[in-house]
Amino acid sequence: MKRVRAENPESTAHMIDIHCHILPGIDDGPLSIAESLVMVDQALADGIKTIVATPHTFNGVYTTPSEAVTGGVDSLNRILTDKNIRLRICPGAEVHTCDVFSRKIIDGLAGTINHTGKYVLVEFPFQTINPGTSEELFQLKLKGITPIIAHPERNILFQRDIDQLYDIVGMGCLVQITAMSITGELGTAAMGCAHTLLQRHLAHVIASDAHSPGSRPPILSNGVDAAADILGSMAEARKMVTDIPRAILCGDSIEIPDPLRPLEMKKKWWQVFR
Ligand SMILES: [Fe+2]
Repeated sequence: MKRVRAENPESTAHMIDIHCHILPGIDDGPLSIAESLVMVDQALADGIKTIVATPHTFNGVYTTPSEAVTGGVDSLNRILTDKNIRLRICPGAEVHTCDVFSRKIIDGLAGTINHTGKYVLVEFPFQTINPGTSEELFQLKLKGITPIIAHPERNILFQRDIDQLYDIVGMGCLVQITAMSITGELGTAAMGCAHTLLQRHLAHVIASDAHSPGSRPPILSNGVDAAADILGSMAEARKMVTDIPRAILCGDSIEIPDPLRPLEMKKKWWQVFR
């Protein structure tokens, strides 16, 4: 396969990771400040200079009050400043689709990304979609909050049938796919679904969903390279870790392309002759 790794001016823009479990001892992320700092080093080496801390929230195991995230972010940023490390942590949350999760977000019990009140990272269960989820997402949109669906390529239902995702994106939600899904490091089912989402313009942001320096590090570049191969454009893949996450951090609006249905997708030359 031809690798799309052409140098382009955008390659110098620093990357932003909008989904990362970087705060120590708050969820199933790093256990200590030392581990968080190793993850920061890994991110910097990869070209990431801004990380949104997104601890699990209301997932049945971790509640993670918004104030706890703010405190953890301030504390880690102080350490980075003291050490003259040029990476910044912003507050966020990975909010599980629990009962009335929209109300919890609207009431500020779970934080929006960078606390702009404009975008929030929402996680579905891996095996199902909870009843009423669409209505909850719609309630958020009515309040001007855009849900960003975290790694749907890892949900078994979307792996089997992504039609429901067309409706969710059609409602105005964004989709985040995980770098290690694109590269195949999270299994073939997640990889196949991630590639389909890219091909059909149903994925808008690439993030690491990092949890540790070992098996789940904050690395985006490998996923971007793999996405560039699928999209046929390094510039388009880079936007998914630069321009689009930057707009999300600032609470700016984002224009996304219409999703493609299979019949609308251009055939490759070998498909034409099949
Ligand atoms: Fe996560």
